[in-house]
Amino acid sequence: MMSPYKSFQYIENLSEAVGKEVTLRGWVQNKTGKGKLQFIVLRDGTGICQCVVFKPNTSEELFNDAKSLTQESSIEVKGVVRAEERAPGGFEIDVTDLKIYCLTKDYPITPKEHGDAFLIEHRHLWLRSSRQHAIMRVRAAIVKAIRDFFDGNGFKLMDSPILTPSACEGTSTLFETKYFDLGNAYLSQSGQLYAEATAMSLGKVYTFGPVFRAEHSKTRKHLTEFWMVEPEMAFFDINDDMDLAEDLVEYIVQYTLKNCQQELKLLERDTTKLEKVRRPFHRMSYSDAVDWLVENKIPLKKKIDGKDVDVLPFPWGEDFGTVQEEAIMEQFDKPCIIHRYPSEVKAFYMKRDPNDSRVVLAMDMLGPEKAGEIIGGSQREDDIELLTQRIHNENLPLEDFQWYLDLRRFGSVPHSGFGLGLERVVKWITGAAHIREVIPFPRMIYRIVP
Ligand code: 4AD
Ligand code: MG
Repeated sequence: MMSPYKSFQYIENLSEAVGKEVTLRGWVQNKTGKGKLQFIVLRDGTGICQCVVFKPNTSEELFNDAKSLTQESSIEVKGVVRAEERAPGGFEIDVTDLKIYCLTKDYPITPKEHGDAFLIEHRHLWLRSSRQHAIMRVRAAIVKAIRDFFDGNGFKLMDSPILTPSACEGTSTLFETKYFDLGNAYLSQSGQLYAEATAMSLGKVYTFGPVFRAEHSKTRKHLTEFWMVEPEMAFFDINDDMDLAEDLVEYIVQYTLKNCQQELKLLERDTTKLEKVRRPFHRMSYSDAVDWLVENKIPLKKKIDGKDVDVLPFPWGEDFGTVQEEAIMEQFDKPCIIHRYPSEVKAFYMKRDPNDSRVVLAMDMLGPEKAGEIIGGSQREDDIELLTQRIHNENLPLEDFQWYLDLRRFGSVPHSGFGLGLERVVKWITGAAHIREVIPFPRMIYRIVP
């Protein structure tokens, strides 16, 4: 017996049903008509199909029902499938039966142009528009690519906690919440520290989940809640780490090109640019990057007494921002890894470079086409003395990190990992203008609804 959910057909499988009668269920994306004909463009989540109602073939009542349909009304139609080259999606249904679930009145998002503010306020409905639909499908494909990549390369999935007792990525972006009689808890900024512990049990792990940053930056690249995938590997050094990061990003891009052709076409994405994303990527040390900035007269942007000031030449030791990253990336059409940053601008857990104590074995992968930083990672400090010193220098409560220091007390090994920001990658690959378009319900400083 057919299970109930197989009693209707999905539009993406219509090629199997040419000449047969099928039942489709979905929403009216558009409806036009003239004389004895009504054309319903039906959307069911898997595709769109034109449904033709021809008056002489139906009852008076069915024809009038079809005429009454409005944008986003939900319906079920029955009819025979025809291949029709000119129809969007390539198939048409000759409707013989129609059932209306909900006759929608005054749907707020019409085919005319709406402002960004209006659309984001109606995010729960905006998700139904064709661009948003395509972006969400690409997002799902990228998540699958990431999981396939790690699962297929001997990694074990581990889940880091979201309620945590301490900071991982600096104390300025912590979301705080009361935690019973135990004081404060913080929403996790990164699952890394827990992934490190688990890597000492399972060897190669990855954690993949939402992380939280009370970001005060109102940019096109920052969310306060975003998804990060973080692999962590025992016995990997910084070079192994960079190799893995390149493999992952190449895999994601090539997987998406192969599996999301229609979506990328609808998004009018120039895929020739993505096709170039093949290993090896570019690599550059932070110091070489600074030399390049100096040579090319790219300044450090600073606020002094509330005034924007350009500092030239770019001083060694300062972190890069959007200006420097975009300037460096303009010369490249594939990602570039910048490695060995000054320890002052990076997190406490990064391993000091044995060849240059001013820098740590950090690596950031920057994407082309203004994608910005898509990956941040490092080899981890495995020397308990140096690590304790760093925790101390950052004014972090040593007590909360005793369990983490245990990882260096008991069977400490060289190890490395990184974090890839899912939304940064989806934004880059889809070409979306703003990061809020690539997560179903974006969280930003000025928005928590819907
Ligand atoms: O560079 P980050 O802060 O690195 C970490 O959190 C490490 N603990 C990761 C690790 O080694 N396991 O963040 C990693 C990535 C960034 O490269 C960026 O892609 C993304 O997360 N990211 C953000 N994405 C959206 N909104 C924000 N506010 C983001 N902050 C970081
Ligand atoms: Mg970073």
